[in-house]
Amino acid sequence: MRVGTLPITRMVGMERNQAKMTQVLQLKKMINHQVLTMQKNLISRRRTAKKSNRVSEAITVLESNWRDGYTVPSPYLYPFQWLWDSGFIALGLSHFQEDRAWSELEFLFKGQWQNGLIPHIIFHKESELYFPGPDVWQAHKESHAIETPASSGIIQPPVMGFIVEEMYHGASNKELARVKLLEWIPKLYQFHAYLHNERDPKNEGLIYIRHNWESGLDNSPMWDRALERIETMEQDLSSVRKDLAKIDASNRPTNTEYQKYLWLVDHFKANNYFESEIRKECPFLIQDPVINALLIKSNYALYRLSVELGDPIEEFKIWADAGKKAMNSKLWSQEYSNYLGYDLYADKIIPESVNTSFMVSLYAEIPSAEQAQEIVHTHLVPFDLDGYYLMPSTPYKSEKFDPKRYWRGPVWINMNWMFVQGLSSYKYNDWANQVHLDTMELIEQFGIYEYYHPQKNLTEGCGSSHFSWTAALYLDLLQRM
Ligand code: GLC
Repeated sequence: MRVGTLPITRMVGMERNQAKMTQVLQLKKMINHQVLTMQKNLISRRRTAKKSNRVSEAITVLESNWRDGYTVPSPYLYPFQWLWDSGFIALGLSHFQEDRAWSELEFLFKGQWQNGLIPHIIFHKESELYFPGPDVWQAHKESHAIETPASSGIIQPPVMGFIVEEMYHGASNKELARVKLLEWIPKLYQFHAYLHNERDPKNEGLIYIRHNWESGLDNSPMWDRALERIETMEQDLSSVRKDLAKIDASNRPTNTEYQKYLWLVDHFKANNYFESEIRKECPFLIQDPVINALLIKSNYALYRLSVELGDPIEEFKIWADAGKKAMNSKLWSQEYSNYLGYDLYADKIIPESVNTSFMVSLYAEIPSAEQAQEIVHTHLVPFDLDGYYLMPSTPYKSEKFDPKRYWRGPVWINMNWMFVQGLSSYKYNDWANQVHLDTMELIEQFGIYEYYHPQKNLTEGCGSSHFSWTAALYLDLLQRM
């Protein structure tokens, strides 16, 4: 069934969402962390009242993954603080516990390095549940890193700019929001300055990533070619990898992939995390369209906020304009109707078209109206809505499609969340509604998971259950349609 023939489904979906939105608002009023007991009673009453309703469950997930100041993405798989996870989580929290939402981001800044880098993992507390931990990264030995908290030595997508803009506009305590932003915009400026100064050596307007984990899309087929050039001795990592004890191996990156990921970490350590040294011989240096689109989105958001707060920082806009122009000249592919990565080591474009790229570029409003139309006509119009949920991370017709393995096929909620907004900003409202409905259905039918098998007759929640950003963005999406 095509979107154009779906008005009734959509209406029902919208009414259902409105009802749930009312519930979120009711909960928002009632939930006060000073009366925790009352909250827990309320949650359990609501759960019995309506089984398909995941609102109270989402709140419980966020409650139980809270660690005195920040939220872990998942209690047993990812027991520390992750950068872009915390951005999405803060937004979800802001709908019912504003003080926690501010704290979430505050804890990210605690890990910021002296050169501006905000690390992808911050190890605020010890845990034996994750590999590679701080002893493997050894980032604190590097001169730019701070001693505590310990952290990894790479980044993740810079989502905080547009997240704080959303939080500022939704804040009920505007004065507090203003105080936070006045303190944080300079820190975000430092982070973005590090990205533009250190990760864009030819001043092209595009930053590079030097590890697939920096993209947030850990094992996307986009990284295959670059990783192929890393040769490692075959070594069985199953005894040190903690993920395989908890999650089926078919859902996770392979042993060989993991060896290459660790090879890169060794390369960074060998160069004491000095960017100019690392990039000299790093076999993985990629201008990724997803991270660049998110940086552009954040730069525009921070520019707008700096204007609103009375102290415009023009550089945010200069960076954003240059990035947008470079995305459309260097990374846009007419052949694929998509943005492709650029491999700086091989000095060529990576001919791997993945759905995450155009989803995020629409969200960041990078394409022109004509490019957006091409994207929709190429990737959405022929999409088999009866067979698959929108939107698999890798196209289901690709030979690399692997429906259960992480970023090689499954649907991810953070991506759908961006896609809904991107499609509506280009006025593809039917499609935006359809992605919204699919997202809600996945969460409501299959639970609060890390990612989802996209094929309709085989769908299941995969990876970690009780996944924080799924819970947070579910609460946020309820308010968006
Ligand atoms: C996985 C995801 C990454 C996420 C992390 C913590 O590694 O690929 O995007 O940040 O888990 O949830």
